[in-house]
Amino acid sequence: MTADLYRTTRPGLLGIGNDGETVQVAGWVQTRRDHGGIVFLDVRDATGIVQVVVDPEGGVATEEVLDGLRREYVVSVLGVVTSRGEDHVNPDIPSGEIEIVASELRVLSPADPLPFQLDERVDVDEGLRLQYRYLDLRRPTMAANLKARSDAIRSMRRVLDARGFLEVETPTLVASTPEGARDVLVPSRLRQGHFYALPQSPQLFKQLLMISGVDRYFQIARCYRDEDFRADRQIEFTQLDLEGAFWGQEDVLEVLEEVAVEVSREVRGVDLARPFPRLTWQEAMDRYGTDKPDIRFEMEIRDLSAIFSATEFKAFAGVLGGGGTVRGINAGAKGLTRAGLDGLVERATSLGAKGLVWMVVEEDGSIRSPVAKFLSDTEQEAIKGALNAAAGDLLLIVADQFRTVAKVLGTLRLDMGQPDGHEELAYLFVTDFPHFEVTDEGNYAPMHHPFTAPENVDDMIESPDTAVSQAYDVVLNGSELGSGSVRIHDPATQGKVFEVLGITAEDAKRRFGWFMDALRYGTPPHAGFAFGIDRMVSILQGEPNIREVIPFPKTQTGSDPLTGSPSRVADAQLGELGVIIAPEVLAVWAEQEDAE
Ligand code: AMO
Ligand code: AMP
Repeated sequence: MTADLYRTTRPGLLGIGNDGETVQVAGWVQTRRDHGGIVFLDVRDATGIVQVVVDPEGGVATEEVLDGLRREYVVSVLGVVTSRGEDHVNPDIPSGEIEIVASELRVLSPADPLPFQLDERVDVDEGLRLQYRYLDLRRPTMAANLKARSDAIRSMRRVLDARGFLEVETPTLVASTPEGARDVLVPSRLRQGHFYALPQSPQLFKQLLMISGVDRYFQIARCYRDEDFRADRQIEFTQLDLEGAFWGQEDVLEVLEEVAVEVSREVRGVDLARPFPRLTWQEAMDRYGTDKPDIRFEMEIRDLSAIFSATEFKAFAGVLGGGGTVRGINAGAKGLTRAGLDGLVERATSLGAKGLVWMVVEEDGSIRSPVAKFLSDTEQEAIKGALNAAAGDLLLIVADQFRTVAKVLGTLRLDMGQPDGHEELAYLFVTDFPHFEVTDEGNYAPMHHPFTAPENVDDMIESPDTAVSQAYDVVLNGSELGSGSVRIHDPATQGKVFEVLGITAEDAKRRFGWFMDALRYGTPPHAGFAFGIDRMVSILQGEPNIREVIPFPKTQTGSDPLTGSPSRVADAQLGELGVIIAPEVLAVWAEQEDAE
């Protein structure tokens, strides 16, 4: 057989069934070992690895080529698939029963020594990984993450396609919209001094599509938010965005469930039970102290206020007198030392608690605690009863206003109980969110976004503090995967929401007049949702940071060490845009240049 251009088959497809066949494979030299005059190469491509045996005397390649062969050289090998014999089987790779005895080897491309080892057991600095992302992506875990992402998106498309959704692209140079985060802005050349915003989400465009008569819309949409980076936040990320006309909440949740089930099946090979559990926002806050509970474990928060209604313990009495609440969790038998317990108190106060009462239940049922002396026997018994406490258990109690108690106990609960594996997938719907939250400045801000319909319009106007919205989240293992809502479809209600938000009619007309106008031309009731694809894939892959499932992400400081973005641009480019760099910034640059 003469050599094909590069290959006739793939390393990962070969097995004992190919014994005796002449094949050609192409790929990267993963390892090279010299043994008793024979050269063994592991050749890798996207499908897997195969061992290649080269006899330097066999005329397979010139001595010069063979001597020069190093890791990550790209080669094409022609040879005969040969059984390795029982003693030499490598059970770790699918092609482990065979090897290719080479008759011809060509170097297609040499490789410089790599800046880091591709070996998965070696810890590599992330800055270096990102600078050479194309090498980092050769590592099997990263290749698997890329594949999981592709698989996830494919199954999303499959589900929505079967349900008759239309995939529609919306613009990425848009007008600034109020979704809560800072916009990423792009200066316009044709209208100097004017800016496009990159979309925080396609929210208003998908609503316009409903008005356009699109019945079911979806898009794999790139979104941009200039907010602080976190493990689950990037400046640029991807949503599965969807919307449906004549839809209510139940219609949306049913589709979300199907998407989540199918994606989980595709990526993780699991069959999830339906329907997913549901909690209202209030239930989630009461029982787990957060609107994105991890329900893989219990350790639920219990309200102990009634037990302390006539307590002698001043700290608790004071809080209850001030309209607060006393709540606790049973963290189980932790066997913590005194230093460990002190550490918990510090953790609680750093989260904003005024203090933390810990109690350990002794073998004889008595309670060991710094505050035991202030608590009556009846109170102690009632606490044990309410928290279902057994000998050895550690009980943690916080007294404060509801939000603080929820935050502190919700966080301690995760500290004490969150499983670190990702095997189990606990999806959950959270519904009935409050319509507004009060900002630090004392204004109302939408809990979801301003286009979300309230449960009841009159309630929303009369008592914004307690008004409930028709918004819902999907939560997976304690992370918010996505959010959505039933939308406002009449301009009058939309106007009232703007009013509560403190946006004057004039301001609303100036900023969203185009959208309010659109609502006037026959708007079907509609509802929708957006999944964060990066978050979903990272959790399914057990990756703690979404960077691991984004092919080319930004660092914590918003830069890309590979391409050097963001970067300065030529004065001529700035001139065309009518942009000048502020003198303060130029001064900082000059200082930096001096320092270099
Ligand atoms: P929301 O703002 O809740 O809703 O965003 C939906 C989901 O997008 C993901 N997400 C992010 N992922 C990575 N980095 C970020 N900076 C980031 N910000 C958000 C999260 C989040 O749950 N238009 C509405 C949806 C709707 O109402 O239909 C919206 O964007 O997983
Ligand atoms: P103090 O009365 O401030 O000396 O506190 C006595 C104990 O009660 C300490 O262990 C504090 O950590 C705890 N404590 C005080 N205030 C609170 C509170 N609001 N919630 C929970 N524990 C508290």
